[in-house]
Amino acid sequence: MINRKQLIKKYLDFFRSKNHKVIPSASLVPENDPTVLFTTAGMHPLVPFLLGESHPEGPRITNVQKCIRTGDIDEVGDESHHTFFEMLGNWSLGDYFKKEAIEYSFEFLTNVLEIPIEKLAVTCFKGDKDAPKDNEAAGTWESLGIPKQRIAFLGKKDNWWIAGNKGPCGPDTEMFYWIGKNTPKGNVESNPDEWREIWNDVFMQYNKTAQGKYEPLKQMNVDTGMGVERTVAILNGVSDHYLTDTFLPIIKKIEKLSKQLYPQNQRTMRIIADHVKASVMIIAAGIKPSNTEHGYVLRRLIRRAFRYAQSLDIKTLKSIAESVFPIYEEDYPELKNKKEILKILVDEEENFKKTLQQGLSKFEQIAKQSKNKTISGEQAFLLYQSYGFPIEMTEDLAQEHKLKIDLESYNKEQEKHQELSRTSSAGKFKSGLADNSKQTAKLHTATHLLQAALKKVLGYHIQQKGSNITSERLRFDFTHSEKMTDEQKKETEDLVNQWIQESHEVKKAEMTPKEAKESGAMGLFDDKYGNKVSVFTIGEEPNNIISKEICTGPHVSNTREIGHFKIKKEESSSQGVRRIKAVLE
Ligand code: ALA
Repeated sequence: MINRKQLIKKYLDFFRSKNHKVIPSASLVPENDPTVLFTTAGMHPLVPFLLGESHPEGPRITNVQKCIRTGDIDEVGDESHHTFFEMLGNWSLGDYFKKEAIEYSFEFLTNVLEIPIEKLAVTCFKGDKDAPKDNEAAGTWESLGIPKQRIAFLGKKDNWWIAGNKGPCGPDTEMFYWIGKNTPKGNVESNPDEWREIWNDVFMQYNKTAQGKYEPLKQMNVDTGMGVERTVAILNGVSDHYLTDTFLPIIKKIEKLSKQLYPQNQRTMRIIADHVKASVMIIAAGIKPSNTEHGYVLRRLIRRAFRYAQSLDIKTLKSIAESVFPIYEEDYPELKNKKEILKILVDEEENFKKTLQQGLSKFEQIAKQSKNKTISGEQAFLLYQSYGFPIEMTEDLAQEHKLKIDLESYNKEQEKHQELSRTSSAGKFKSGLADNSKQTAKLHTATHLLQAALKKVLGYHIQQKGSNITSERLRFDFTHSEKMTDEQKKETEDLVNQWIQESHEVKKAEMTPKEAKESGAMGLFDDKYGNKVSVFTIGEEPNNIISKEICTGPHVSNTREIGHFKIKKEESSSQGVRRIKAVLE
């Protein structure tokens, strides 16, 4: 038997003994990557160092990293999916490579965790036009005693790792543990259901460009990842993650409050446990529920958990949330703000309680009247707008009633609404200008230039936190911890004005969020995007792009139309977030 704490300690101690430095888990909200909302892997906070910057702790690093993956939120409810998880990892930043990495993995699995060699299988990259077959990795496994028949060679889908669509990447070798009832047999290809993945060693030696080219990295890196919850479950001989110490105290609390038993309510109880745990962790990272970005993900999690809790006659999520703290509080100092964290959660719950019952009745009414078993976009939007039902929640309800939602028309409704609120806010600011919308367009384009300039002047860590445009001024909030100096403000202003004077084209293209991401456009790439997005490119492709960003706003067609840009104010907006107000003269 091994629990979460013991596994983490064994792992970090092992890599410490191999001269790795233990670094703390980074925040769940990435500080220097505007392309994702949450940290999704241990390598995430290390990207600059994988690309060649030197790490203050040296080239051998290890840690346990908090992660959130919301991509498969719909699958939460089965025995092994959850949105929040912890990932153990060890990294070589241009130091050791394949052979040592595999030897370390093997030693840890067989000596420290004492897994019998017969219960291990591995996969290696089979090779394609971008990189050769990984005979070196397979050869190392064989030399350590993994028999040939336990080694499967698979393609990019399985044995290549990249976070998203561009950046550092490479072939990987994955390690699997036999969970079958009988004597272990075959390999991952022949017996896929009985071999369960426990660890992944990625050999990061390429950088995938926005154009899809694989370029050799400056240095050869190793990036590994072992999921804590999964490994603890497997080593304890259970396949249900919710039955290990990473979830069980939460499940027990839900059983107690609902006076129901887990075996009869697995899906519901897992969803509540997962969502409440993730919500606590996201709030602890400094996020509050809102209708955008991280705040929206949090809102969805709390509201969804609350609806499921209600279905078990649980009146509040508060004491369920309390049961999360003892699992993690010794390791994560941000959980010290327990009172505040619980208050934010309960406030959101209170907010939602006011409309939930009426919303559910409205839903029932809509469901009864639905034509062709479909809920229209207008109806789904009404549930969102008037009753605070995130669309994903309406989707859940629809599924339970065996109904579909016309998502395309829902997205249109949402766009129409954004359009309306933009027009009405433009109407509020009577500036005496003949053409308000033209002025707004100029400010939208100026905002993109401002963000690009701030990245150049302050660094690529800055990330948009909010933007608000009236016909008189722009307001831009971004992550940065210090007040800007007068020189930095001047440099930013000069850069924006230089780009304005250089008369760059502003081009708009419509594409799917996936295509936008692949093209290197900035954006949040959360589920909030509809099927199509507009990407605005300022500057000339391919080599002179100043900014490429997803946006719904109106824009000018050439930067020279903007006029003269002036920063009026630079101030603090909230902790770690600065605010700039600027005008066009
Ligand atoms: N970054 C790799 C993963 O997440 C190790 O699997």
